[in-house]
Amino acid sequence: MPRQLFVTTALPYANGHFHIGHIMEYIQADIWVRFQRMQGNQVHFVGADDAHGAPIMIAAEKVGKTPQQFVADIAAGRKPYLDGFHISFDHWSSTDSPENHELAQSIYLALKEQGLIDVRPIEQFFDPDKGMFLADRFIKGECPKCGAKDQYGDSCEVCGAVYAPTELKNPYSALSGATPVLKTSDHYFFKLSDPRCLNFLQDWTQDGKLQPAVSKKIKEWFTKDENGEGGLGDWDISRDAPYFGIEIPGAPGKYFYVWLDAPIGYLASLKSYFAAGGPQAKYGETRSFDEFLADPQVEQIHFIGKDITYFHTLFWPAMLKFSGRKLPNQVNVHGFMTVNNGEKMSKSRGTGLDPLKYLSLGMNPEWLRYYIAAKLNANVEDIDFNKDDFMARVNSDLVGKFVNIASRAAGFIAKRFEGKLTAAIGDEGKALLATLQAGRQTIVEQYEARELGKVLREIMLLADRVNEYVDANKPWELAKQEGMDARLQEVCTVCIEAFRLLSIYLKPVLPAVATHVEAFLKIEPMTFADADKLLGAHTIGVYQHLMQRVDVKMLDALFEPPPAPVVEAPKPGGEDMAPTITIDDFVKVDLRIAKIVNAEHVEGSTKLLRLTLDVGEGRHRNVFSGIKEAYKPEDLIGKLTVMVANLAPRKMKFGVSEGMVLAASHADEKAQPGVYILEPFPGAQPGMRIR
Ligand code: 2FM
Ligand code: ZN
Repeated sequence: MPRQLFVTTALPYANGHFHIGHIMEYIQADIWVRFQRMQGNQVHFVGADDAHGAPIMIAAEKVGKTPQQFVADIAAGRKPYLDGFHISFDHWSSTDSPENHELAQSIYLALKEQGLIDVRPIEQFFDPDKGMFLADRFIKGECPKCGAKDQYGDSCEVCGAVYAPTELKNPYSALSGATPVLKTSDHYFFKLSDPRCLNFLQDWTQDGKLQPAVSKKIKEWFTKDENGEGGLGDWDISRDAPYFGIEIPGAPGKYFYVWLDAPIGYLASLKSYFAAGGPQAKYGETRSFDEFLADPQVEQIHFIGKDITYFHTLFWPAMLKFSGRKLPNQVNVHGFMTVNNGEKMSKSRGTGLDPLKYLSLGMNPEWLRYYIAAKLNANVEDIDFNKDDFMARVNSDLVGKFVNIASRAAGFIAKRFEGKLTAAIGDEGKALLATLQAGRQTIVEQYEARELGKVLREIMLLADRVNEYVDANKPWELAKQEGMDARLQEVCTVCIEAFRLLSIYLKPVLPAVATHVEAFLKIEPMTFADADKLLGAHTIGVYQHLMQRVDVKMLDALFEPPPAPVVEAPKPGGEDMAPTITIDDFVKVDLRIAKIVNAEHVEGSTKLLRLTLDVGEGRHRNVFSGIKEAYKPEDLIGKLTVMVANLAPRKMKFGVSEGMVLAASHADEKAQPGVYILEPFPGAQPGMRIR
């Protein structure tokens, strides 16, 4: 009977794109999932966006979007990452889906039915300007211990003190700057301190299913210190409106805290996968979602990071248990990923590893899959991405030891034997292939146990054996010797057979390479069971190089800090400044104060006014000016302004214009309409020169 596996990764908050930490977790889970599929097991591998909570609501408001739109826009950007790194989720949903609303409410009602929900008044900071209660993150003030300014409501980044937001000095709302006031409101609690919950969790977390380090950590969480502090308290699961979340049934204006409905999103995503017909199409599933999940044979498996262990090993199993649902069979906790010897990741300093940049540089996603797999084990350990290490593992091991086996043999088979392998393999070759086949069991066990580093070490040891065989038998020399054709064909066949076995073992890590290998060998998609047989007298296709080596320049480019953003020089008034002139250029223009002695409409013109100007010359000048839209003639008469007095007279349709009045306007008059003529400060006289 194939196993039935329901597998999830932590649901990412929908307020940002994936970073390398997400991708690492997805690669780990994806390798495990692909391994299970290759073992003939049935897997439903689902994810979803974690849509709810105050930070997302506030981020959406900042950019003028509804939270729904905001979250949808983030979700729309997920595909290039998932496709790019060959992550094979069967389905992706959102915690704001109808399935999740429905499931969260029914799980809550079941807990209530069990008498595990309590309502208690809580005093909390409230932002009077925003009309909302403030999460600790959104309250700032001075640290009560060291006095550092602008510290968050839960802890001080300067001295490390941990405190309640009410202890901050001069607290202010990070949202509005207003001084928060204390306000009381009813909150809903999940009674984890109930003996039923405590007893259940004490067993469930210590019965050997969790990683040892995780069980140990949880034990600490259970233990009260000498002051009676700590231990497992009741969990506050409600938030007051306004909140982007799921309404609590029977409690108007109250919403589930995001962490209540987030893990329920695992079930909701599976449910929406069932609704979309996925399991039915893939495995001929006939049961409903509820029937499927009620089947004790179905295994529920979560992959998560160490920072969210508390939620997944205490709150989540308790919610499931007391709402009468299947419990997780595995909660697989991994450490964090650091970059270049644990330097804290920072985009501006260029030490982070931006997944999309990695892809855009043309770096092979399977290098990263291989590298991450090589570093991973089943423990809760951080792993470091290190440039030199990456180069060594990919170039020396993956390409040097594995890919090269095919390239050393394929050419001879194609050129000399029309692509035909031989079934006639001597004892040495048989022994080698038998060794490779025997390696399968350990490899399978290590995959199952998520000991991916051990898997790859084992495979590389086998690859070493194959390369030793090639070096000992030297096909390139056999090819030059007369009468050695059969021997050459045999040696090359052993290489190809060995290469196929190694490709099977590596397929969960290198799915795209494996697909190319299948095409090259002209074989069906490989499964682990295929390692039992050999190809025999089979005809293979033409070898095309499977993988390049990493070029150090790519890694340098990957970690090069992003260029400082080019700040576009603001264009004053919508246009660039004119090129520099000298004072000599300037004095060529004779600007004079002019008195507008008359102004009138020009018959037949929609734009022009006819101005009569006095520049102190003992005569008047006639000037046409395109300011009709901006000024009424009667408002201009008697005013002083500025004109270009030495402009050559210009003959126009309505008469000769003897100069030009100065006026200001934006370059794009449509975008920013308005024309403004100049007026000197009081005291200026007609005829005075402007210099
Ligand atoms: O820590 C996080 O990124 C959360 N969004 C993980 C949620 S996992 C599950 F509970 F949904
Ligand atoms: Zn402090």
